[in-house]
Amino acid sequence: MTHRTDPPPGQDAQSAPSARASTGSASALATRQVHAGYTPGVPQNTVTVPVYQSVAYEFADFRAARDTFALTRPGNIYSRNGNPTSAVLERRVNDLEGGAGALALGSGQAAVAVSLLTLVAAAGPGAHHFVASNKLYGGTSDLLGDSFADLGIEVTFVDPLDPEAWRAALRDTTRGVFLESIGNPVLTVPDLRAIADIAHAADVPVVVDNTMATPVLLRPFEHGADIVVHSATKYLGGHGTAIAGVIVDGGTFDFTARPARWPRLTAPYPRFDGIVFTDAFDGREGRTPFLVLARAKSVHDLGPTLSPTSASQILLGIETLDLRIRRQTETALDLARFLAQQFEVARVHHPGLPGHPEHEQVSRLLPEGLGSVFSFDLAGGPGVVETFIDALELFALVANIGDVRSLVVHPATTTHSRLDAAGRADAGIDLTTIRLSVGVEDPDDLRADLAQALQAVARATAAPADAPFLR
Ligand SMILES: Cc1ncc(COP(=O)(O)O)c(C=O)c1O
Repeated sequence: MTHRTDPPPGQDAQSAPSARASTGSASALATRQVHAGYTPGVPQNTVTVPVYQSVAYEFADFRAARDTFALTRPGNIYSRNGNPTSAVLERRVNDLEGGAGALALGSGQAAVAVSLLTLVAAAGPGAHHFVASNKLYGGTSDLLGDSFADLGIEVTFVDPLDPEAWRAALRDTTRGVFLESIGNPVLTVPDLRAIADIAHAADVPVVVDNTMATPVLLRPFEHGADIVVHSATKYLGGHGTAIAGVIVDGGTFDFTARPARWPRLTAPYPRFDGIVFTDAFDGREGRTPFLVLARAKSVHDLGPTLSPTSASQILLGIETLDLRIRRQTETALDLARFLAQQFEVARVHHPGLPGHPEHEQVSRLLPEGLGSVFSFDLAGGPGVVETFIDALELFALVANIGDVRSLVVHPATTTHSRLDAAGRADAGIDLTTIRLSVGVEDPDDLRADLAQALQAVARATAAPADAPFLR
């Protein structure tokens, strides 16, 4: 079977052939999401991926230990840097995204941080700058706007829908541009190709958070991305049981085009016995220069490791990824249409709706839909938000997305509560904005739940001003 690409258990975690190279176009995504990256090993022959609950790995001999530490031989050393269960997850996500290699991490937040900090590390000491979308998940905004500022890393936030703003923000010290393929929570869909062309003209790599789209709906490498990151906590896992993140390197960015910009990759690195990463690592076995630096330096030094048990949970989720995504996408669009017709709803942020200003462009980039998360604004003002949310019975009030369960959240007081009014306006969030993450429940039941909560709003707003439940 050509889609099974990993070595038997016990062999080196990073020594499997590149999934892209061996799966090619032989199998469809629905097949690869179940099989890619794992071959049942001899002698155990477990059909599912074992959880390798081991901190460390025994070296075959003295030479093997020395060479593995020196990075000249791939292999397991210590589970902070790599683990055989996580390695299957890496190969599987890499295969679905069509990359050159991947790195699994302890959270999506870690995937975003490590991807960008590895670009900083590649540049070495000095001034560092990123250009980022101003419509990002709140935790990423916190990282880029606050923690990066603490470290002296500058970030210019720009409108993801204005490619010229990306061009104007680029500097000599720009280490990367960062955007979400579908912005959370108002479904902003940037023109990835246009932004990638602008970044590449300045020899700057493009990092795309593909959490909201997943490789079922969009594969950013096909649109010019160089590095893709995921919060695997969301759709990949899909069942709300494990926090995880993945970085996938497309292997497309040429760090040697401007070698002076990336001395830690293109010149001898004393810490690693003078290895020149771009000479030593050609991407075989998923070992791209970027990923080896990320694993051997960023993950080794900072320690944002994924537990093998969580990796196993995410692998289980991925096996049903396309079934869930397609069902949830369809139900979400159905509910968006319903909400757009309701008197109590001022606006629905779903570019899948024909009246939406980005409908045409989004339909071209994402012909299979936009996933299950979307937002809408209640018409009755901030005062009716509490009534609406507390009236919901099926939609659970949870700060998460991509679960099989339907979830609701009020971004202004939860996920995006650290933003000030200007930041909220940039992110497209109003005080009346409600975000839904639609699950796999029956669409009629979900529609009925929204309808009865809107009726509760209607009753509350129609009630006389001195009604006891109004403040
Ligand atoms: C688009 C996006 N990226 C990254 C993250 C961070 O992921 P995690 O919660 O797994 O750390 C999230 C979390 O909500 C997210 O929605």
